[in-house]
Amino acid sequence: MTDLTTSIGLLGYGTVGSAVDRLLNDRAEDIARVAGGPVAVRHALVRDIERRRDARDGVLTTDFAAIRDDPAIGVVAEVMGGIEPTRGYLLELFAAGKSVVSANKQLLARHGAELFAAAERHRVQLRFEASVCAAIPVVKVLRESMIANDVAGVLGIVNGTTNFILSAMAGGQTYGDALARAQELGYAEADPTEDVNGADAAAKIAILASIAFHTRVTIDDVPFNGIEDLEAVDAAFAAELGYKIKLIGSAQRLPGGVAASVHPTLVPTSHALAGVEGSFNAVMLRGSAIREITLVGPGAGGDETASAVIGDVMSVLGTSGTGFFQSDGYFRQLPVVPESEVESGFYLRLDVLDQPGVLAQIARVLADVDISIESVIQRAADGRAQLVVTTHPAPEGRFFDAVGRIRSLGVTRAEPTMLRALPR
Ligand code: NAP
Ligand code: HSE
Repeated sequence: MTDLTTSIGLLGYGTVGSAVDRLLNDRAEDIARVAGGPVAVRHALVRDIERRRDARDGVLTTDFAAIRDDPAIGVVAEVMGGIEPTRGYLLELFAAGKSVVSANKQLLARHGAELFAAAERHRVQLRFEASVCAAIPVVKVLRESMIANDVAGVLGIVNGTTNFILSAMAGGQTYGDALARAQELGYAEADPTEDVNGADAAAKIAILASIAFHTRVTIDDVPFNGIEDLEAVDAAFAAELGYKIKLIGSAQRLPGGVAASVHPTLVPTSHALAGVEGSFNAVMLRGSAIREITLVGPGAGGDETASAVIGDVMSVLGTSGTGFFQSDGYFRQLPVVPESEVESGFYLRLDVLDQPGVLAQIARVLADVDISIESVIQRAADGRAQLVVTTHPAPEGRFFDAVGRIRSLGVTRAEPTMLRALPR
């Protein structure tokens, strides 16, 4: 009897890879009905074959060629991460006629153009839903559902680990304990530095900006910083002012081109993103025809990401040729607008001398660069004062110019703390 099983390969059998194999087994009947036959993992690439794991005999291999050269495998899920040798493996898989689905945001945000061109040349597909916001189908929505829209902006929380840490810290946990728990739960990257310093979110924003605006944006075009330097005092002042601090990714279509960034940002408590807690992510998409939609859901985790990986495998099986919107014709090249020209509201905390005229001098500097103050709090003790100013949106360059001038007034006693703030 002919075996109608569709065989797939996995590069990686860690948090996500093992969940892909398990979900394909657990959901075998339904998946077979949709795919027209069973879908099963034939080989999975790992580094350490001796490590104990729940895999069927003969599935795990340390030999990439066993997957690349297996004629029964038409689709490979790349869930191993890293830039090399992963990039080289994908190029070899395309050359061998295999389509790839990838969860690897760093690889796509750095080498997307090269990889898509190679996939197109070999008439295979490269899909990447799992690379951004795990279970949330934001890639499909932007690439397919919103094709009739001129997309104006993407704003969201796109890293599960940092959102989990910020929520846990708001509940009284320490930064270290919250990060350790995020690692245990499989949310964090193999090296969590990329989560906490904003690099993971920046890669995702680069991918979202590319598909939202049909232009190539790489991680090098995305200024970012993370949550490592946040201080509890700023979360407390933020709460007093009616905000929560979230790591916010933003991509905007501006008259001069596109701008994308990732920064810890004050979000008004009434804002849709303020209520997104734990490992959940949310993305707000603004389009000419739809006004705005917000997608919310689990942004990290083995099963959550595996769900998106399997969805992409099914999309590959259900389509043929180079697939949806793969070709270079999808992209134009828009200029990247420098962050100094992009507008934002700001939160500025200054440790200043508690003397007559200090507040007036600071207000004068802001007025001189045409920045409008939204609110001011001052807490004084022992001849010093904590002065917290929030501003209405202004070009970032002008704000940083003002902070430079405030520093040179000689009234501050420590480095100013600056955070972006979303409009109320
Ligand atoms: P992980 O648990 O560290 O698993 C990585 C797997 O890849 C391991 O099985 C590892 O083998 C294998 N591997 C790594 N480098 C290899 C190499 N050079 N040769 C052969 N095998 C190699 O990572 P993960 O959390 O599953 O994440 C995998 C990918 O999914 C990453 O790109 C990540 O950014 C992305 N992602 C993860 C999540 C999440 O919530 N975890 C969500 C969305 C996207 P050994 O087991 O032998 O070490
Ligand atoms: N480490 C990532 C996060 C996994 O925490 O969001 C999902 O891409």
